[in-house]
Amino acid sequence: MAKDYCVLGIESSCDETGVALVRVSGAALPELLAHALYSQIEMHQAYGGVVPELASRDHIRRVLPLTQEVLAASGQSLADVDVVAFTRGPGLAGALLVGAGVACALGAALNKPVLGVHHLEGHLLSPFLSADPPEFPFVALLVSGGHSQLMQVTGVGQYHILGETIDDAAGEAFDKSAKLLGLGYPGGPALSKLAELGNPAAFKLPRPLLHSGDLDFSFAGLKTAVMVQAKKCAAAHGGAVEALPQAVLADLAASTQAAIVEVLVKKSLTALQQTGLKRLVVAGGVGANRSLRTQLNAECAKRQVRVHYPELHLCTDNGAMIAMAAAMRLQAGQQTANKQYNFDVKPRWSLDAILS
Ligand code: KG4
Ligand code: ZN
Repeated sequence: MAKDYCVLGIESSCDETGVALVRVSGAALPELLAHALYSQIEMHQAYGGVVPELASRDHIRRVLPLTQEVLAASGQSLADVDVVAFTRGPGLAGALLVGAGVACALGAALNKPVLGVHHLEGHLLSPFLSADPPEFPFVALLVSGGHSQLMQVTGVGQYHILGETIDDAAGEAFDKSAKLLGLGYPGGPALSKLAELGNPAAFKLPRPLLHSGDLDFSFAGLKTAVMVQAKKCAAAHGGAVEALPQAVLADLAASTQAAIVEVLVKKSLTALQQTGLKRLVVAGGVGANRSLRTQLNAECAKRQVRVHYPELHLCTDNGAMIAMAAAMRLQAGQQTANKQYNFDVKPRWSLDAILS
């Protein structure tokens, strides 16, 4: 691989089509030249969740116009693309196939190598795109819609899992609780917005595994507790949960958020203590949560721990993190891009499988 090269990244694992171009110059941190994103949220909202077949079809519609947009915004042409990276998994099979198919077709047409990227590694490395990038080693709290993990990260591809969810992910807990409260999809942002108007101590909700002594999470019981409380309130008000006064819904939302955030903060602090590390990196969609950020910042400041986040708009799925993860892998010599265009995707793919 030449000293300087450009990596095009394509993300299509779920309900966002993302494309980005990064430039690698020697050993410096890769630079984001441009990125473009199309969110399908509006389309799926009518169904209360992601409809996989609709997602795949929409990725097909968006991916090439977004690629053209990225090239135009960065002042580059297809000839300037040296490597085409794509999300290989985990995610929705049909949606992944669109990104993989387009990436491999582009690679074949341009006679350029391609590289399949692990979606979670994209999230994990996304804080390196921020104005305040971290340095290795660090503890990572990776909290997305499908995964919740604490990791000890010593370098690119060197991830040691310290703990993870044994059932629902943190994002799933937000989404499912939001659905119960009639807040629609996507639940996390809606629930956290409403929570700002409520009292986090209004309802007593469980903090699963808070004192378990290990670094695993469990959020499945929380949604049941939220449902029980919401139904009690609805019965007291003589109506459905959705018809509860806004103030009660806000209290339920705030109490739910407080339970999730307290567990995430406590376990992150324990992971820092156990590893002796003084740096925390938060990544994944739930990393956009304001209450989580405020509490982590306060607790880490007390312990002289630096906390790093992705830029807010890069917390949820995007192409920049995929281009960045590919670029950092290539730079670290962890992987080589190749010209085999007979792609496959991995809808279920553990991060363990890519450890070096
Ligand atoms: O990382 P991501 O975009 O997709 C996956 O790889 O899963 O994360 C999406 C998740 C969803 O569960 C969404 O509700 C949650 O992140 N999320 C939030 C916030 N923004 C997104 N959860 C809490 N507060 C937010 N502000
Ligand atoms: Zn994601």
